[in-house]
Amino acid sequence: MTMLPYSELVMEHFRHPRNVGRIEDADAKSVEGSPACGDMVAVYLKVDPEELRITDIKFESYGCASNIATGSIITELAKGKTLEEARQITWKQASEALGGLPPIKTHCSVLAVDGLRAAIQNYEERHGLVKERVPTTVEEVRRRLKHVMNPVVGLDLVRTKLVKDIEVAEGTVRVVLDLPADHQFANAIREDIREKIEPLWDVNELIVEFTE
Ligand code: FES
Repeated sequence: MTMLPYSELVMEHFRHPRNVGRIEDADAKSVEGSPACGDMVAVYLKVDPEELRITDIKFESYGCASNIATGSIITELAKGKTLEEARQITWKQASEALGGLPPIKTHCSVLAVDGLRAAIQNYEERHGLVKERVPTTVEEVRRRLKHVMNPVVGLDLVRTKLVKDIEVAEGTVRVVLDLPADHQFANAIREDIREKIEPLWDVNELIVEFTE
């Protein structure tokens, strides 16, 4: 096994990650999976509703050392910032703040930053703050399903061809999965889909169907 050349700072944040854990009464949260490696990260936010400022932030990582270190650094960078400011944090900044990450580990910091952005978006969707109210399309639903993992193989639902059909009509989204309803992960997957699709501003009802 080759050792990755991690900087001192990466190792320090990996060994002593800041802001790890969950916030039970979070105002917003996200769970994002990396299509590249199948690892997951969850981000929780407490937000001051007047100033739209992040007053507390925590993350849980099921990823590698780079992902944990990036989660640690971006939660430090985001705490105290407004949602708008925190959204501007890039994986490049995170990587620079960590003294650089090996190029093959880029997707790990992208995953952490995606988690932060998704949590911000979740807050905005829950609080009716989404500015561009574009109607939900089949493509948007498919894009979101790419962030739901198929736990059997650790890759996303779309990539593993579990999504058989998507329909969007008058506030109802129907997703058909090529999976038996009594599959051991059926409920978990349905809940993950619910988390991704229900916050969409024009979705009133979500129906997840199984093929067998
Ligand atoms: Fe998956 Fe780093 S290899 S998050």
